[in-house]
Amino acid sequence: MKAVGITDTTLRDAHQSLWATRMRTEDMLPVLADLDEAGFHSLEVWGGATFDVCLRFLGEDPWERLRLIKRYVRKTPLQMLLRGQSLVGYQHYPDDIVREFVALSVKNGIDIIRIFDALNDVRNMEVPIEAAKEAGAHVQAAIAYTVSPMHTVSHYLETARALVAQGADSLCIKDMAGLLTPYKAYELVTLLKRELGVMVQLHSHYIGGMAVGAYLKAAEAGVDVIDTASVPLAFGASQPPVETVVRALQDSEYATGLDLPYLFKIADYFEQLRKKRGFDRGLTRISDMRVFEHQVPGGMISNLISQLEEQKAVERIHEVLTEIPRVRAELGYPPLVTPTSQIVGTQAVLNVLSGERYKLVPGEVKAYVRGLYGRPPAPVAREIQKKIIGDESPMTARPADSLAPGLEKARRDLGELAGSPEDVLSYALFPQVARKFFGERSQRGKAGLAETRVQGGAAAKEDAKLNLGEIKELIRILDETAITELNLESEGVRISIKKGGTGAATAAFAPLGPAAPQGLGSAAETGSGGEPVPVLASAAGKYQAEARSENYTYVKAPMVGTFYRAPAPDAPSFVEVGQRVQAGQTVCIIEAMKLMNEIEAEVEGKIAQILVENGQPVEFGQELFAIEE
Ligand code: CO
Repeated sequence: MKAVGITDTTLRDAHQSLWATRMRTEDMLPVLADLDEAGFHSLEVWGGATFDVCLRFLGEDPWERLRLIKRYVRKTPLQMLLRGQSLVGYQHYPDDIVREFVALSVKNGIDIIRIFDALNDVRNMEVPIEAAKEAGAHVQAAIAYTVSPMHTVSHYLETARALVAQGADSLCIKDMAGLLTPYKAYELVTLLKRELGVMVQLHSHYIGGMAVGAYLKAAEAGVDVIDTASVPLAFGASQPPVETVVRALQDSEYATGLDLPYLFKIADYFEQLRKKRGFDRGLTRISDMRVFEHQVPGGMISNLISQLEEQKAVERIHEVLTEIPRVRAELGYPPLVTPTSQIVGTQAVLNVLSGERYKLVPGEVKAYVRGLYGRPPAPVAREIQKKIIGDESPMTARPADSLAPGLEKARRDLGELAGSPEDVLSYALFPQVARKFFGERSQRGKAGLAETRVQGGAAAKEDAKLNLGEIKELIRILDETAITELNLESEGVRISIKKGGTGAATAAFAPLGPAAPQGLGSAAETGSGGEPVPVLASAAGKYQAEARSENYTYVKAPMVGTFYRAPAPDAPSFVEVGQRVQAGQTVCIIEAMKLMNEIEAEVEGKIAQILVENGQPVEFGQELFAIEE
């Protein structure tokens, strides 16, 4: 009697789970009209990691993507995933940013907002839910499903009840690790439908193959909508294929009404795309089947493995997978979903690679223990808490209550670089990444114009707070374009970047006033003579940074990530200023993509400067250490 609705996740979760979120807007446009006609309940097309990846890796404006999708999808509601107070980022943002982000998401085309909190701490969902209601969206509150002594059926019911009381229009059981067994799905859906009477949607990942069964039992229990993906982007860490689920329900009272030949036409498009881009199918490995022991979502395992491969430490994956549930229990059984999956995963890797548990503790883990992500399901183990934050007591209030408003500041910081209110939000969420994106966008978008504008020095005002990483980025742009000269002013320093005869670019710094610039790192030390001093030179995209007066070689970040002064497992203590290092010696770790990467000195010498603080984010090519040869 009751048709089950289907949300298609191909354009968001599926490629996030299988293709590292690398589907481009141009890949989506040709198939949008067909997806719109297919009869889906909704299309999940935005949010989650798509926002960050657009800006960081694809050179795309995520807002522009949303507007384009909305232009071609006229009938089917568009849906997004929002990480509660973390929005589409990895930290909690102040309430004013949350409200503005939600309002603009709806304004740009989102109809349904699925909101969750990684700890099921409903306080972190209050403001986003309120903002989404105000904006006129359908609010779907999601409960992260996991298995632990704390995650009883009554925990889920209480959480769901609180969310409905907060104004949720519907509920979603979010089974991000594929842990929901068919009979548990039946029990939970039955309970939520009976007790709360709202629409219930089930979101599962295929991983070990449980999800199809869970969907069928959920249908019997009265679930309203389930999530699937087109078959070329289904299976493995992604959702079950729509084709299978539609066929499985076909002969029942829960038939979806979707047309299989039509769905295969859509699948053909995505299969061609998959081949063209060289992406993999969703696969299930034995380690995925063991998800009930380690609880690590499939996408996270892929990341752990590829990163361990890079470090030639892939044989330690089993140690890491054994360590993860231990760390998770000590940290109070958080469900493993962004960002708690990174928090637990990173700590587990550090525990394994450093050879001593909790010897190295990343800033995110400290913040978590301090209560800055919300209330863990169970208290953090006392001895671990003591080891991490000493006698400090964790905060018990809603984390965002301690955050000062941030929108005005973002607006001010960005200044004339902001082309729209959406730009301000991109910047508020991912400052460095967005600024770099805006720079590239203006170079791309106004090729001829940009050159004149930049050469005229008018860009100076736009870049009031350039740092060294950004200057290097400008040099890179210079290397790749016809632009030969760039003159900027930043906090009292005149910076002129010139392309040399050989095509290599150099940057020179000269102070305009007595104040040394804060954001310019080592440049301040070298520009004291009033004459432009070349401190950076680049050739063919590779940078050699040196101070003329002193013979420094810089250790640079090979990737975007977080800098930890923690050395490798075989180097027991921190590298200090004055210490001698050998070529090839590991001097620090850069955390990127949820894992630790050892960074080596390329030359022998004495550590002259440490240029980044422990736990701070670094950009590609940013200098970390100066070594005096
Ligand atoms: Co998902």
